[in-house]
Amino acid sequence: MSIRLSKIMQRIRPSATVSITAKALKLRESGRDIISLSAGEPDFDTPDHIKAAAIAAIQSGKTKYTPVDGTHALKDAVVRKFADDNGLTFRPDQVLITSGAKQACFNACQALLQTGDEAIVPAPYWVSYPDMVRLAGAEPVIVQAQAQNDFLITPEQLSAAITPQTRLLILNSPNNPTGAVYPPDAIAVIGAVLEEHPKICVLSDEIYEHIRWDNQPHSSIAAVTPSIADRVVTINGLSKSFAMSGWRVGYAAGPTELIAAMTTLQSQSTTNACSISQAAATAALVGDHSFIEAMNTQFRSRHDSVHQRLNEISGISCVPGRGAFYLLPNIASAMAARGFDTDVSFCESLLDERGLALVPGSAFGAAGHLRISFAASQRTLDDAMARLAEFVSS
Ligand SMILES: Cc1ncc(COP(=O)(O)O)c(C=O)c1O
Repeated sequence: MSIRLSKIMQRIRPSATVSITAKALKLRESGRDIISLSAGEPDFDTPDHIKAAAIAAIQSGKTKYTPVDGTHALKDAVVRKFADDNGLTFRPDQVLITSGAKQACFNACQALLQTGDEAIVPAPYWVSYPDMVRLAGAEPVIVQAQAQNDFLITPEQLSAAITPQTRLLILNSPNNPTGAVYPPDAIAVIGAVLEEHPKICVLSDEIYEHIRWDNQPHSSIAAVTPSIADRVVTINGLSKSFAMSGWRVGYAAGPTELIAAMTTLQSQSTTNACSISQAAATAALVGDHSFIEAMNTQFRSRHDSVHQRLNEISGISCVPGRGAFYLLPNIASAMAARGFDTDVSFCESLLDERGLALVPGSAFGAAGHLRISFAASQRTLDDAMARLAEFVSS
């Protein structure tokens, strides 16, 4: 019997990063020596004091439903975090706790977009944004950020993409997959464009906020351009900065009306983020943050070595990143030299021939590139770069 699936399913695809990670795992299970630099999560363990808070939550019976929008303790911690780190003032009713930042982005798209709307998505983008926009019935309008502009979109590009249908701009800094970080002045000029377009909201995904080496303060557009703050939803989470990807906790803060709509949606879908994970997230936000600096030091040193090795490979060039844990080298010349038409076939052969799993740039709106996650040990990264160099020169 064939099952009729809904039309909306024809508009979306499985996440490319999840697919390639699964294929690599399968090959490894079959006994092959596989290196996977495809996953988007820190290779560090969750710090002990956070784990201890989760164990205490279990032992003290915090194992029931929580309010849909999150526990009071975690929401208070999020309110304090925004005030202390970002200069943003929110009341608790302007905060929603979600099962990961991904759910916060999804809820925001569902609450803001409908058929006939357009959402501007700067590319290279995190794989999920265009499909989240499509799932809400709207159309993603891709604006291509250029490598020579450090992968930042310009105000001119933004202005040119705006139409009467535009309802949302999705900003992501530090960026997955480029590692680009918008400095405060680059955010300010984007804010200035949006001041002229009062119908456009902003989804500011700041999940890599703490993973940076740009020596500038992190800039949230709601703080840099306060005149548009009443139409910005700022999204963040624990997965990356606190090495808590499996715990599934994220959060959104913004206008009361929007947060209320996102909360209603959540009440009819997942209810609340896991009670135990919320207790752990509270401990993470209010507790000691010194390990973040230690993690950053590692990420920076790995970034520097992978960036250098990539640029030593003939046919590959890579702009440096300033945050997150990814690099997006341009492989157009290497592809041509080896006779590959697409980055997808390049990545498939790389996995088959050399056992190295990387994600094709086309999944991120960056055809002719590769995304490399350097959330792996230096030894693994050295081995991976050697395999890539051998593959390209073979
Ligand atoms: C830019 C970006 N936003 C959001 C997420 C989702 O994070 P979470 O684990 O909190 O759902 C990711 C995860 O890869 C990401 O790269």
